[in-house]
Amino acid sequence: MSRPIVVDSVAALRVQIRDWRRGGLSVAMVPTMGALHDGHISLVRMALDRADRCVVSIFVNPTQFAPSEDLDKYPRQLARDLDKLAATGAHLAFTPGVAEMYPVGFATRISVGGPSSGLESDFRPTFFDGVATVVAKLFLQALPDCAIFGEKDYQQLCVVRRLCRDLDLPVEIIGAPTVRDTHGLAMSSRNAYLSETELEIARQLNAILRRTATALAAGTEEASSTVEAGRALVEGGFQSVDYVAARESLTLGPWRRDRNGRLLAAAWLGKTRLIDNVEIPSA
Ligand code: PAF
Repeated sequence: MSRPIVVDSVAALRVQIRDWRRGGLSVAMVPTMGALHDGHISLVRMALDRADRCVVSIFVNPTQFAPSEDLDKYPRQLARDLDKLAATGAHLAFTPGVAEMYPVGFATRISVGGPSSGLESDFRPTFFDGVATVVAKLFLQALPDCAIFGEKDYQQLCVVRRLCRDLDLPVEIIGAPTVRDTHGLAMSSRNAYLSETELEIARQLNAILRRTATALAAGTEEASSTVEAGRALVEGGFQSVDYVAARESLTLGPWRRDRNGRLLAAAWLGKTRLIDNVEIPSA
């Protein structure tokens, strides 16, 4: 088990990546905010399959948190994360501090339209600007051949794809299937906030989405099906539901039965907000 190289400056990151490139090696990147779980590890494995070298960034990005959100209490466990990366075989961990990523006077923000409108943006209006800005910076810092993002954050994946196409960032974006526990709950760093009782409730989210997606594919009416899914979540113990929505799977525009679809949801369990999504099988 070899430990990953750990660098916290852009300069050191570039020196290492330049060395690899000179040796003809390809590079895959896995951007993360740390608190690594099996979902992240599956992304690292995919990166190792795709390229000669795997860089994992660990940076809790303040610009994607609204003032009311959980930036301060977001789990930070660098030593454990590095152990997990060592066990998986990642080659480099990039762990910049806030001042390295956002130096004094930082004044640039990238705003992606298209797939970022609606859904998460209705409830977290500045979230995708923060994500797009930090992802563009990470890509320009590391210049990887490809980068792996989980389908768990499906809207984020679509936004990052749009960002790369629109800005001609030469990074292939690869979506990786969501890793779930044996009850279907999607792995998330925020699951760490849930009590045992809340975990039981949380596990219904995926089951309700799958049931609804199957019904939609079988022809049930969209509006009533998504309203019914929201009601089932609240009856199952969720405090409130931000959205349950069917969308076209690439653009996240309105869902059409003749196109691949995605059913996406966000709901609150105590103080924790959970998101998940499933494919809507085509008719
Ligand atoms: O999905 C995440 O963990 C973050 O949004 C990302 C892509 C690492 C950007 O900070």
